[in-house]
Amino acid sequence: MRKGILTLTATMALLGSTVAACGDDSSTAPADGDKAVGKVGVILPDSKSSARWETADRKYLKEAFDAAGVESDIQNAQGDKSNFQTIADQMITNGAKVLLIVNLDSGTGKAVIDKAKSQGVAVIDYDRLTLGGGAEYYVSFDNTAVGKLQGEGLVKCLTDQKAEKPIVARLNGSPTDNNATLFAAGYNGVLQPKFDSGEYVAGPDQSVPDWDNTKAGTIFEQMLTSEPKIGGVLAANDGLGNAAIAILKKQKLNGQVPVTGQDATVQGLQNILAGDQCMTVYKAIKKEADAAAKLAIALAKGEKGETNGTTKDSESGADVPSVLLEPQAIFKDSVKDVVADGFVTKEELCTGDFAKACTDAGVQ
Ligand code: BGC
Repeated sequence: MRKGILTLTATMALLGSTVAACGDDSSTAPADGDKAVGKVGVILPDSKSSARWETADRKYLKEAFDAAGVESDIQNAQGDKSNFQTIADQMITNGAKVLLIVNLDSGTGKAVIDKAKSQGVAVIDYDRLTLGGGAEYYVSFDNTAVGKLQGEGLVKCLTDQKAEKPIVARLNGSPTDNNATLFAAGYNGVLQPKFDSGEYVAGPDQSVPDWDNTKAGTIFEQMLTSEPKIGGVLAANDGLGNAAIAILKKQKLNGQVPVTGQDATVQGLQNILAGDQCMTVYKAIKKEADAAAKLAIALAKGEKGETNGTTKDSESGADVPSVLLEPQAIFKDSVKDVVADGFVTKEELCTGDFAKACTDAGVQ
């Protein structure tokens, strides 16, 4: 690992001086320091498992690279694993010096990291850790903390409802996303003791392949058929939560059965305002994008970036230098915080029927 970084640093320094000597032909001069910074390629995973990738990550990453005068190429693999690899290959061929990837699973991520390393291109795992991958850096949120907030959020909503021995269903994220494993560790840490004590009853518990919202609806419909008395739903993100809410609506159970989420999407926040969703987890993606862009630029310049910890790769055992950010739980009375932070606008949130709920919730 260390050796890898040193080799890369040497390569970068060499490339940097060559580019500088030949003159920089890109229209944006490297404003960030005096060393030429190569292009950065970003591969987002899809646009369906969460709105965040296109509405937040793409926007904030582009802004961060533009502000630093660094050329970026941001593409979306649209959930297609072979496309993911093709995009990475093209980025490397087109001269990317650093890749920032959100893997579709660890295998896809590792294939890209191996290829990149063989070409002297550094890789940052963005949001999802590639197990056994060996990326230079990992930038994300404290994902176990995300899950803990979801578990505690569900407990708060069930307590507010004075639910007695509620049957709790779990709609977990993709089994191939390490984040989903961490989220589950977080919320199971809260729920398991309640199952063990008999305060809550463990209901159906299933993972949703690729975080597919349509599959989530089918899975939840089966859950509710097999267990019509589900009293609470731990859904791992807003998309899965919305799928469960749609099924609950068909049975006129929405609003009576608390459902969790994650990502503070417009849809999730509207479900909260409507009283159909109990909470979401807000992750300030601007901070994540800024941190990743800073590290990418440092790598492209052959410098060491700033991190605030390490993350254990459970497959290789490596401690990956990381930037991990703190998530925030959002309930109806704190929806306004997400708007105040500029993550969603009042205009997109407070449309039509939601105007009154926004006013009632103090959204400005
Ligand atoms: C991300 C979540 C997102 C999910 C589905 C996870 O890896 O951390 O924010 O909702 O993937 O895209």
